[in-house]
Amino acid sequence: MSKHADIRRITAPDIRARKGGEPIVCLTAYTAPVAQILDPHCDLLLVGDSVGMVVHGLPNTVGVTLDMMILHGQAVMRGAQQAMVVVDMPFGSYEASPEQAFGNATRVLKETGAQAIKVESGPSIASTIAFLVARGIPVMGHVGLRPQAVNVDGKFRAKGRDAEERKRVLAEAQVADDAGAFAIVVEGVDESLAPEITAAVKAPTIGIGASAQCDGQILVTDDLLGLFEWTPKFVRRYANLKAAIGQAAADYAADVRARRFPAAAETYALGGGKLRQPRVARGDKRG
Ligand code: KIV
Repeated sequence: MSKHADIRRITAPDIRARKGGEPIVCLTAYTAPVAQILDPHCDLLLVGDSVGMVVHGLPNTVGVTLDMMILHGQAVMRGAQQAMVVVDMPFGSYEASPEQAFGNATRVLKETGAQAIKVESGPSIASTIAFLVARGIPVMGHVGLRPQAVNVDGKFRAKGRDAEERKRVLAEAQVADDAGAFAIVVEGVDESLAPEITAAVKAPTIGIGASAQCDGQILVTDDLLGLFEWTPKFVRRYANLKAAIGQAAADYAADVRARRFPAAAETYALGGGKLRQPRVARGDKRG
């Protein structure tokens, strides 16, 4: 029996049932140790294709592949016990047809163990969402600023500036909802549009650069931690790990250069050809 057998993981119906209730807490995760840290605090962890930018240094999410998403999905599933885990479908893996999306989404669920996938739901994707949901794959939609459309939009640009654009985003949310999405990410929209979408759809809305009136919120964890150099306007930084990591590296470099590292307690003392108890720091299992 699994050591986690007694921990019940949050499911797509659980998230859906939170519509209009206690706000749904979501963050992105890409690695096992970070997923483990975030897990007790989150209802949902998204293995976002933002991994391409914040981990792999890509200029946008267009270059992210299905294999990358599966690798990171597997890592997050090893770290998270109770949060629902959703994996983003990368650009080019679902747009061609419902059959293409089903084949690739099936791979994601089988190879990672995650419970759902997310698609950036432009107007043409509604039939694909319905196709997947009817065949047992929970789908999260994503409307408003759609990062995978960056080459059409020219840049990452908030949506809902005029009546026509507001109508278009609202319609995208409505078709994703009608198609059976269990939740819908609303990214980078005018602050007054998000509550309108939230009131119009049955699925809970998860805001990012949207409004506190959404049913939940998500942020890219690296942004919240101050790890990524470019911070969008909508991010609140809860830590400055970039500075902390830089300082730790500088301290380490100074110690190495001054021969202060390693100290006696950080080395092995092997005597008389016999292995003596290694003098390693508590918790170091690599000795
Ligand atoms: O890729 C991602 O991290 C996302 C979130 C920003 C919602 O899609």
